[in-house]
Amino acid sequence: MTGNVFFVIIPNQKKVVADLLAGKTPDPNLGKQAKQRSTHNNYLTLPVLFLMLSRHNPLAFASQWNWIIIAFVLAAGALIRHFFNTMHAHKARPWWSLIVAAVCFVVIIWLSTFSPADAFKQGNSDSDAVYELVMERCSMCHAAEPGWDDMSGPPKGIVLETPEDIERQAQLIYLQAGRSTAMPPGSVIELEAEERARIVAWYEDRP
Ligand code: HEC
Repeated sequence: MTGNVFFVIIPNQKKVVADLLAGKTPDPNLGKQAKQRSTHNNYLTLPVLFLMLSRHNPLAFASQWNWIIIAFVLAAGALIRHFFNTMHAHKARPWWSLIVAAVCFVVIIWLSTFSPADAFKQGNSDSDAVYELVMERCSMCHAAEPGWDDMSGPPKGIVLETPEDIERQAQLIYLQAGRSTAMPPGSVIELEAEERARIVAWYEDRP
């Protein structure tokens, strides 16, 4: 989107203005190219908004099939945009595009239920092993006094230092570290898919 603006739309605009100032007729292709790139950007706005907000929804960006989810988000965003573009042009409303977009979202929701942990389904789970795992891999950040200089308190107020803390945050731990790979963040600390499977089994077996 930025490339479209800086490499085509703005330079073409400058050429058109320069031509007009010089009393020449601007090349009509300059305007056509700019219009085409601006249409591309128009169709990309909704997917970009979705991706910016998805940081808060780990099942969208940190589940097993996140890259396919993005493809469906691109399609659904463009389809919704198409509906509004056509409507604003006062043409017949293309309801089909909203229906296909809705189907895309159903597929996205379904895809987001897969976790890398699924390949390591575990039968019974040992709570103590999960407490130990979480305390070992999460508590350097999620502590009353985190072990990082630039962290003034536990991120989002979530403390994971004792089994009681872990039980209290069980559902969030399940979503952030079991069903998705949102936590631990980046590549600071590793949590293998097999270890995530232990968290999933522990949460799902809880009474
Ligand atoms: C390197 C530091 C670090 C480690 C290690 C870490 N976290 Fe986090 N955690 C963060 C930060 C930073 C945030 C806040 C993220 C944000 O604001 O979106 C966070 C947020 C969270 C949240 C709240 C998410 C929300 O949006 O409600 C949960 C739950 C969580 N972490 C669980 C865990 C678990 C479980 C582990 C271990 C498997 C873990 N974290 C390991 C830094 C860490």
